Amino acid sequence: MRTVDMPSSGAVLALLLALAPSTSAFYFPGVAPTSYKPGETVPLYVNHLTPADSQNDPKLRSVFSFDYYHPPFHFCPPEEGPRYIRESLGSILFGDRIQTSPFQLKMIKNETCKAVCREQTFSNRDAVFVNNRIYQGYDLNWLVDGLPAAQLLKDPDSDQPFYSPGFALGRVDGNTAVLNNHYNIVIDYHEASKDNYRVVGVLVEPYSMKDSKFVDVGRAECGSAENPAVLAEDEDTTLTYTYSVYWIKSPTPFATRWDKYLHVYDPKIHWFSLVNSAVIVTFLIGMVSTILVKTLRKDIARYNRLDQFALEDFGANGSAEDGVAEDSGWKLVHGDVFRPPKNPLFLSIMLGNGAQIFMMAGLTIAFALLGFLSPSSRGALSTVIIIFYMIFGFIGGYVSSRVYKFFHGESWKLCFFYTPVALPGLVFASFFLLNLFVWGRGASGAVPFTTMLILVIIWFIISVPLSLAGSWVGFKQPVIDTPTRTNQIPRQIPPAGGYLRPLPSMALAGVLPFGAIFVELYFIMNSIWFSKVYYMFGFLFICYGLMIMTSAAVTVLMIYFLLCAENYHWQWRSFCTAGASAFYVFASALLYWVKDVSFGSWTSGVLYLGYSLLLSLLFFVLTGTIGFFASWMFVIKIYRSIKVD
Ligand SMILES: *[C@@H]1O[C@H](CO)[C@@H](O)[C@H](O)[C@H]1NC(C)=O
Repeated sequence: MRTVDMPSSGAVLALLLALAPSTSAFYFPGVAPTSYKPGETVPLYVNHLTPADSQNDPKLRSVFSFDYYHPPFHFCPPEEGPRYIRESLGSILFGDRIQTSPFQLKMIKNETCKAVCREQTFSNRDAVFVNNRIYQGYDLNWLVDGLPAAQLLKDPDSDQPFYSPGFALGRVDGNTAVLNNHYNIVIDYHEASKDNYRVVGVLVEPYSMKDSKFVDVGRAECGSAENPAVLAEDEDTTLTYTYSVYWIKSPTPFATRWDKYLHVYDPKIHWFSLVNSAVIVTFLIGMVSTILVKTLRKDIARYNRLDQFALEDFGANGSAEDGVAEDSGWKLVHGDVFRPPKNPLFLSIMLGNGAQIFMMAGLTIAFALLGFLSPSSRGALSTVIIIFYMIFGFIGGYVSSRVYKFFHGESWKLCFFYTPVALPGLVFASFFLLNLFVWGRGASGAVPFTTMLILVIIWFIISVPLSLAGSWVGFKQPVIDTPTRTNQIPRQIPPAGGYLRPLPSMALAGVLPFGAIFVELYFIMNSIWFSKVYYMFGFLFICYGLMIMTSAAVTVLMIYFLLCAENYHWQWRSFCTAGASAFYVFASALLYWVKDVSFGSWTSGVLYLGYSLLLSLLFFVLTGTIGFFASWMFVIKIYRSIKVD
């Protein structure tokens, strides 16, 4: 009998190979193409300003984003006033604020040096504000026909040019901040059919020109880029924002226009780390399963033989002492191993929520991997995350109920109530508090109050009832059978030392699941803080799988040693052992701070730490749940295979 079924190394490698082609960018076009006639207006929308890294200064200096029409920037609004463009919930939550702009782009009509609006006067306070944003490396984010305006960068390894969304607000010349007030907008167009043109790429080359002069509505005389515009911090400065538009014919069809944006930085690193962790994981799992299968088989055979001897002895001598004296290890705790843990309610709630996150994360990544989350539908990823999270409230309730019943819980009302409220409430409250900081800073990246309200409302209308329904269904199910009966009196636990103490065991076990994901984690952090498109879902999918397997394998091994040491408190222990990888995740966020971040204000730091803590907490619950259920199956399986009278 194989006690523990683990995928063999061959299966893992086959999986890797099967997924290999999809690790690069793949997506469905998502939106129907828009065609424009020559001379027709192509809308240019403006999004918030975000902190970015540049090639000479790769450090993150702020986490706040600013509304495009934040007054100190003096960007020209359209005459009738800016208007918000409708967006998905996810895209608003993650900071997008898309508005209309006064830029006039006419399909295949080249134009040079147009004024965006009349000259703008910067007071010294505005100048200080804008200069600070330039020092912090802020980027402008525009959208033309749904495509982000990009900078043309070259991959330092392959020398391949690619489009990096966003372009600089200004640059630092020596020690002075220079504001870009002229934009060369270069648009790639594709001729779909006669007189039907489509936008397939947008580049913006920003320049700084001190001497540009406003002439008439829409007309200007551009100065020279030799003489850059510097905002004086001790007097008023007057500047004119100007732009030129160039249309360039491109062979790229609409369907593949995103390809050049979804550039994978250094794919070698991903592959290297992936193969690396796959090898480690396969090795680990191989080791765990051989140790376990071998020793367990021996254990089980011994126990069952002892059983027989004990019976025969009993018949012959009237004493079973000999047989029992040799009995040792995990069998001894058979009368306690299914004794409910301390705080069963709390653990059940955590496990319910963990199952919910597990399903959400897995399905989201799978969805993205299959190409359903097109980058052209902005915020699709975050919206899908929210929807899945809400829907899987059902699973959360069901799991927490069944586990609670298994633990012989009594406070059913509390279990029903806290499962959909405790963790989401905590997450939402922290999110709300952190958002208060953004409000306090006057940065406009704060999530609007109405969006928060909508979130709370759909949570109460969809997630909470689903969770209650799940809890009810789980509650109606019979108690999960245990293979051994629990004794009346709890057994004494002999003291254990070394790696079996809680902290060392957590520190030891937690590092392995973290090892499976840390490279991908670094890229995800980069894309969150620098608002970049993350599009390596193939890698992420494999990493998620590897993380699950490592968490499960390493926790099962720990719990086996724990039971052998006759300690039957495996429930919380398995949860915390696997969850410990969250401490490594948090530590890596701190390391990222030391290495890649240099904040000018403490509020940025609070925000960064707050979100990192929140993320680590969710990760703790997720991995802890994986560890618990793996151990649960393991424990039930091994105690089912021995005979106990
Ligand atoms: C616009 O200008 C660019 C660059 O000067 C040129 O390559 C392109 O052919 C022009 N397009 C049209 C439609 O005139």
